[in-house]
Amino acid sequence: MNKILVTGGLGFIGSHTVVELQNEGYEVVIIDDLSNSSEKVLDGITAITGEKPIFEKLDLKDKADVEAFFAKHNDVKGVIHFAASKAVGESVKEPLMYYENNIGSLIYILKELKKLSSAAFIFSSSCTVYGQADELPITENAPVKKAESPYGNTKQIGEEIIQETCKVVPTLKAIALRYFNPVGAHESVEIGELPIGVPQNLVPFITQTAIGLREELSVFGDDYPTPDGTCIRDYIHVVDLAKAHVVALGRLLKGENKTSYETFNLGTGKGSSVLEVVQSFERVSGKKLNYKIVGRREGDIISAYADTNKANNDLGWKTKLSLDDAMRSAWKWEQKVREKE
Ligand code: WQD
Repeated sequence: MNKILVTGGLGFIGSHTVVELQNEGYEVVIIDDLSNSSEKVLDGITAITGEKPIFEKLDLKDKADVEAFFAKHNDVKGVIHFAASKAVGESVKEPLMYYENNIGSLIYILKELKKLSSAAFIFSSSCTVYGQADELPITENAPVKKAESPYGNTKQIGEEIIQETCKVVPTLKAIALRYFNPVGAHESVEIGELPIGVPQNLVPFITQTAIGLREELSVFGDDYPTPDGTCIRDYIHVVDLAKAHVVALGRLLKGENKTSYETFNLGTGKGSSVLEVVQSFERVSGKKLNYKIVGRREGDIISAYADTNKANNDLGWKTKLSLDDAMRSAWKWEQKVREKE
């Protein structure tokens, strides 16, 4: 059974990916520093799959700890690297913390993978690298634009570091997965999104407003050049996204990759406006959402949604779940989290 390391495996996308890896028969070891997650997520994963992953609390910025981990787990066949700080606004205020955490940890892991006889590496990247693309839908050939935040820059730099390393380390092959907007929760409601503090992202803010934790949702601007004036994004169900990671890993382990470094956009291919997301939530929950149109949010792009042809054709993967499925599961998860409080 192939052993796979999942860094940040107790996070939102990480935990859903661990479930899909275990469903596929992989042995999973998780590293997480618990800075933006909780060890209780392990129980959620185990409740779904019946198998508790190995977990090691570890700070990937600590070079000696990373070396010790790989000395102990020298049978790791692949790494899916989620661990990173990912709040756009925070990264503007704390650039050094973002570069040290996101780039430092990546370098230490790659240095360990160089020592293995072969290694498959999946990198958690983001459509943020495209900024406001000139053409929609966005293909993988769209130009990577100057990052609008240190967070986005760490994704761009991370991709470059991996690509250049794969060129000179013949035993290393990698895929960067550029996510659009991950939303929703596992149907079991054993795992889901656990934002700490006031949510920055749209969907957790919607569900926290509906459950009464927030007064009302502020819709950041309805004067954009879009059909209803609000921004458009490609909201992809986190379970579809998790499954794409398992497919990408399999591509590398089976040697089906065309080059040593590949990138794939992961989205539904469909854009939805902020108000369409609100309407989807109201439809599936039967609740009227309290929201107010306010001014634009600094740094928001107008519209982004994926061209999914490369992922569909080369990965043989496409999304199966809808925006309504995502909103339904996000709402069920929010209700479960609050009933536990
Ligand atoms: C979506 C839309 C907001 C909150 C970010 C990161 C990106 C990725 C996903 C990590 C926008 C609007 C939001 C609110 C609102 N993260 N909105 N009221 O900004 O597309 O992407 O998260 O990889 O890197 O940039 O997602 O959910 O913050 O916003 O009106 O309270 O919802 O203006 O149009 P975003 P988001």
